[in-house]
Amino acid sequence: MSETLSSRIHDEERQGKAYAPVVEDLRAHRKKFYIESYGCQMNFADSEIVASILNEKGFGATGNYQEADLVLLNTCSIREKAEQTVRHRLQMFRQVKENKPGMLIGVLGCMAERLKGKFLEEEKLVDIVVGPDAYRTLPGLIEEAESGQRAVNVLLSREETYADISPIRLDSNGVTAFVSIMRGCNNMCSFCVVPFTRGRERSRDAASIVRECEDLFKRGYKEVTLLGQNVDSYYYVDEGKDEIVTFARLLEKVALIAPSLRVRFSTSHPKDITDEVLYIMAKYENICKYIHLPVQSGSTRILQLMNRTYTREWYIARVGRIREILPDCGISSDIIAGFCTETEEDHQETLALMQHARYDMSYMFFYSERPGTLAARRYADDVAEDVKKRRLDEIVKLQNSLSLESNRQDIGKIFTVLIEGDSKKSAADWRGRNSQNKVVVFPKEGNLQKGDYAQVKVEDCTGATLIGKVI
Ligand code: 5AD
Ligand code: SF4
Repeated sequence: MSETLSSRIHDEERQGKAYAPVVEDLRAHRKKFYIESYGCQMNFADSEIVASILNEKGFGATGNYQEADLVLLNTCSIREKAEQTVRHRLQMFRQVKENKPGMLIGVLGCMAERLKGKFLEEEKLVDIVVGPDAYRTLPGLIEEAESGQRAVNVLLSREETYADISPIRLDSNGVTAFVSIMRGCNNMCSFCVVPFTRGRERSRDAASIVRECEDLFKRGYKEVTLLGQNVDSYYYVDEGKDEIVTFARLLEKVALIAPSLRVRFSTSHPKDITDEVLYIMAKYENICKYIHLPVQSGSTRILQLMNRTYTREWYIARVGRIREILPDCGISSDIIAGFCTETEEDHQETLALMQHARYDMSYMFFYSERPGTLAARRYADDVAEDVKKRRLDEIVKLQNSLSLESNRQDIGKIFTVLIEGDSKKSAADWRGRNSQNKVVVFPKEGNLQKGDYAQVKVEDCTGATLIGKVI
């Protein structure tokens, strides 16, 4: 439970995460809620908005579900496995409820949106169902559920960005925070359920984003990660100031808050990331030199079926531009093995592209058909499971060797590392990250503290970690 939030954005394989009681939550509360989040970092950020809404209504957070009046699961639908994990967890909470009849169970997020009333009617697993755009109505829904009514709101919105809600940081390390800058996605990648569960894309008021980041900095935070499904299509017209804010402009505004506030962002779509963004990254030292640029497949034919709207050559050209403008930039990817009709040649193209891009890290999955998506309607899920798994295995092995190679090349280099806390293995070591988002572990020396920047010389590495010493 005390594990810090990882920087991974799409990682539902990680166990659901319960939150410890919030530090900022100083009021005395009548009732307590317990919340667990699954899936992408956007869900974790949403849980912090939910915490804020509940806090306003007199609910306090607890890290112990046994003492909670309200148990919430913020859920992910991206792959079938993610949904199964949540179902098992809900069944467990249902059993807890047998001995605690007053306790309410609520499901939030993408599964709530996808399955809607099914949870209440067919499975009787939960008392409350709330989609990602309806969190403001949660207090009313709780009252309805308390009086024994059906409590569902899965309406999607074209406007909701929760811009005015100050998230309550849950289980925070006090150093790094996620700031949501937009919601939804208009891309319709054929494999992806997100456009259906999170609705149309909309950008949050730029001034409210900058205010939230300034506030975090004033409270001692040293790094913000700007979050969106597709940050490069951020677009906000500030009518008061007669200003158009693009993602590049937003990045600059946040970078200008303070040189000692690091700025990261995720996720970038290869079709949308502009040279302007790369130049802004180059201009400001405090914008981290790291881009998560999911390729999904190295085969143009598969990319077309996936509706990614770029080709292998386009992707390679974007990577080339990044290397040209930002020679020391880390690049990571998402890769899907065994999408519909994928042949051995397509798969080999993916492996070759990985080698070409020299990814520092990747999130790798085998294709999981999601009901209602374009791919589910149009194409047969025709790659045999053992073939999918074998291809995924080859992709993972290649990535492991690329990560190790990339880390080995850092031996002897000196990096500025933001200290996030103790190393997971030993309290005698600090753990932080460099600008390229690599985890760096080094012995505690001198009077460095969590939240400080350290100059660390890398002396050794594993595939996942750089190991060094303060200089
Ligand atoms: N099957 C497997 N992986 C998927 N992703 C999204 N949808 C699916 C699916 N149906 C992966 C993509 C995306 C990441 C968030 O999850 O790689 O970038
Ligand atoms: Fe899904 Fe594609 Fe949108 Fe990412 S960009 S959320 S993969 S539809």
